[in-house]
Amino acid sequence: MSSTLKGRSCLMMADLSTAEIRSLLDLAHEVKRQKRMGLVTQRFQGKTLAMIFEKPSTRTRAAFETAFAEEGGHPVFLSKDDIQLGYKESIEDTARVLGRMFDAIMFRGFAQSTVEALAQWSGVPVYNGLTDMAHPTQVLADLMTLEEAWGTLRGKTLVFCGDGRNNMSHTLMVGAARMGMKFVIAAPEPLFPAEDDVEFCRQIASQEGTELIITTDLSAAVRGADALYTDVWASMGEETLLHLRQQILQPYQINEAVLQMTGNPSCVFLHCLPAVKGQEVTVGVIEGPQSRVWDQAENRKHTIKALMLATLL
Ligand code: CP
Ligand code: NVA
Repeated sequence: MSSTLKGRSCLMMADLSTAEIRSLLDLAHEVKRQKRMGLVTQRFQGKTLAMIFEKPSTRTRAAFETAFAEEGGHPVFLSKDDIQLGYKESIEDTARVLGRMFDAIMFRGFAQSTVEALAQWSGVPVYNGLTDMAHPTQVLADLMTLEEAWGTLRGKTLVFCGDGRNNMSHTLMVGAARMGMKFVIAAPEPLFPAEDDVEFCRQIASQEGTELIITTDLSAAVRGADALYTDVWASMGEETLLHLRQQILQPYQINEAVLQMTGNPSCVFLHCLPAVKGQEVTVGVIEGPQSRVWDQAENRKHTIKALMLATLL
């Protein structure tokens, strides 16, 4: 395990080097094996984790809470309705108080600046459990799932279809580049990622000997894909935009015809979930034999456990 991770936060994918992602994936595979064998370990005994939620969650909450509790730690769920974060008390003050009481903090919410302030002021490792900008713990699970499917990541092609500037696309773009995967975004132009972010990832991709492609052309994008990935058309906090998004994203739906267009019968389908079946993906694809979404959801727990083990012990 890379000792460079001890005491560190994980606020965005770019925080992690290629070697650190590699060591986290290795540990995640190991903790998954341990879980399958029924091995009971108590590596977080005597430790506490604050879990702050401004937005709802099924997988992220369940993964952090069970991963921490299984290792003997005590996770505490703090919803936005229960604490003063940002309205009756500044984020800096809440962070300093929580940092005195907890060994680590996870945060799910809106602004990336909030999770960064929590890390700056708490003095303990802080994990980003999704912000408007980034979802790094999801991408660790995605990489683990792809590695289980393919055996290796380097040289493979991952294609994201849909809202190319949302937290998932943004974070996958970094993760794929770091791991030497070709990443293709198929999206309508208004939903292309920001030019600065693209430039940053293109530099990583070129160092890793791969490339990043952004296009409006869905059929060209998916040809030869090893995996197709999509996400909801309106992320949490953007619900009022759904009607507009449906109009511009309908041509980017992943359906049986799109899976065929890849020309790759073993192309894998991934979705971070929750999915709106019939919108960004058809029932046939998400429930079909190429879908790995349930492994992907399970792997949230193993990768999150690995991240906490690497940063807390
Ligand atoms: N994928 C994911 O983050 O799921 P939740 O919103 O249920 O946590
Ligand atoms: N882009 C989605 C991801 C959910 C896990 C959202 O932010 O709502």
